[in-house]
Amino acid sequence: MFHPLEQLRDEALREIESARDEQALEAARVRYLGRSGSVSSWGEQMKTLAKEEKPTVGKLLNEVRTAVTAAIEARTRQFQSQKESASLGKIDISLPGATGPTGYSGYSGYSTSLTGYSGYLPLERGSLHPLTQMLERSIEIFRRMGFALADGPDIEDEWHCFDALNTPPEHPARNEQDTFYLPDGRVLRTHTSTVQIRTMQSAPPPIRVIAPGAAYRRDEVDATHSAQFHQIEGLYVDENVSLADLKGTLEFFMRELFGADTAVQFRPHYFPFTEPSLEVYVKSKALKKGEQWIEVAGSGIVHPAVFEAVNKARGDKAYDPEKWTGFAFGLGMDRLAMILFDIPDIRLFAQNDLRFLRQFA
Ligand code: PHE
Repeated sequence: MFHPLEQLRDEALREIESARDEQALEAARVRYLGRSGSVSSWGEQMKTLAKEEKPTVGKLLNEVRTAVTAAIEARTRQFQSQKESASLGKIDISLPGATGPTGYSGYSGYSTSLTGYSGYLPLERGSLHPLTQMLERSIEIFRRMGFALADGPDIEDEWHCFDALNTPPEHPARNEQDTFYLPDGRVLRTHTSTVQIRTMQSAPPPIRVIAPGAAYRRDEVDATHSAQFHQIEGLYVDENVSLADLKGTLEFFMRELFGADTAVQFRPHYFPFTEPSLEVYVKSKALKKGEQWIEVAGSGIVHPAVFEAVNKARGDKAYDPEKWTGFAFGLGMDRLAMILFDIPDIRLFAQNDLRFLRQFA
């Protein structure tokens, strides 16, 4: 049989559950738990009960009070979160952030009732650094020609940076005046050609990769030289790769980047790791310095000695110079961005000056 207290509890819980709003809930609270509410009046009645009944009814009364209190609290929380999501629903999250044209000053402030925060909220929209934009454009063009991305560390051992690239110990590039050496003998890579070696070590031919990244030289810093600069290395190894493939690839790249009427010139040069070696120049009316040839890359046909060094490290003959040929190139990314965006000084890239960076937003 039900004790009347249990009946009272069920009635209370049902009423709390069906309370339509906070007022109805408060009314229910008063009705049951208020000073003269029905649960409370049972407390009074306890005094009149027979001694044997007191412990059971007392225990039951406690349980009923706890259950009703918990139900009221739960319903209160429901009302609260309903209110919060209703006010959140009124916020248009597609609106742009509140911004002031000059940052913090001159902006009149912003307040939100949700957080209670009242003050300046300079929500500025960021944009990509010009070098990153340059990088993304370049990657996109090479991707269309089937080049995959490769990567390697900025801190390198001398073998990957020089020896494997057919650069002997007495070569001037290995001089401490030109290269940053770490105390343990490793170097900050002086070019991204290191990634050619790492890629060939990790996979047999055919290979068609580009490797964008930073390179470091102890140059005197001026408008066109920086201790850190950026390159995109390219490597293509397959059967019958020729100088014509190299020229076609780079000409296509330059015309995609600088416009269809861009002239591309290849001049004989020397690199230890390519033979023959070519420097690449461009000239385009679309560019500010349109009337002059600008050097943008080094390139050439991979030297057989490079394949041999890779074979030795791999412990096989995967890069047999009798069977495979390849071309490689290193594009100066800072240089490309400077001519494409008409930037007069390479140091601007690293100064983090918003007046400069905003021009590329
Ligand atoms: N590594 C050369 C440099 O930094 C560029 C280069 C890359 C030349 C690949 C030939 C082949 O100047």
